[in-house]
Amino acid sequence: MAKAGTYSRQKMAIPIEPFESERLCLRPMNEGDEPVLWEMLSSPEVLEYIPLEPATDRQATKTQILADFAAWERFKFFFAVIWKSPAEDQSKDMIAWVLMRPMEDGKSMELGYWLLPEVWGMGVATEAASAVVAHCPPLMDFPQQDITAHVLIGNHASRRVLEKVGLEYTGEGQIELENKTVDVWGLAWPQE
Ligand SMILES: CC(C)(COP(=O)(O)OP(=O)(O)OC[C@H]1O[C@@H](n2cnc3c(N)ncnc32)[C@H](O)[C@@H]1OP(=O)(O)O)[C@@H](O)C(=O)NCCC(=O)NCCS
Repeated sequence: MAKAGTYSRQKMAIPIEPFESERLCLRPMNEGDEPVLWEMLSSPEVLEYIPLEPATDRQATKTQILADFAAWERFKFFFAVIWKSPAEDQSKDMIAWVLMRPMEDGKSMELGYWLLPEVWGMGVATEAASAVVAHCPPLMDFPQQDITAHVLIGNHASRRVLEKVGLEYTGEGQIELENKTVDVWGLAWPQE
């Protein structure tokens, strides 16, 4: 793990060119993804292990999401995941997002993801997160060893995804997430 303050959300740039995995294409998320973000933010299923209440006010949520895109800070490190072939889905809409961003303390790079429930259980999270883990470190100038993740305790599917991607369990802890203190499993890339 790096020293505190090594990575800065303000200073770090993101790769803007789309990149691909076997079945998926990934690109920076943008305002056009707002309807899918609304679907996720209003889904109790998606939020089961996220300390957020499902959104119920469509217009207020849209206004907030668009304001966040305008300010760019919140979604700067989010990659939209879409099927490479329309045959998989008949659309080019975002089916998931993956983030790779500096942790608040700047000591490591956080990996995270949300998927629409209709694509769960198909290996999408593992494939998309693996693509980000392979693609981003050289372009964003950090070593894979600095990748970490937190999973709310009980989210076995997400922990399994991270372990399949290559991270290792490091123990239980507590973090501040969405202004709440939550119990989490910690995972990190194996140190050499
Ligand atoms: C968690 C989430 C990302 C998983 O996505 P996914 O595409 O279904 O994941 P994958 O198909 O790539 O892999 C899931 C793995 O977990 C396993 N799994 C699923 N449910 C499980 C459970 N309850 N207990 C143990 N393992 C489980 C699957 O069997 C699979 O492992 P395998 O390939 O070895 O069989 C998805 O459900 C999601 O977006 N949830 C809502 C948001 C969220 O919780 N994000 C993570 C925050 S840390």
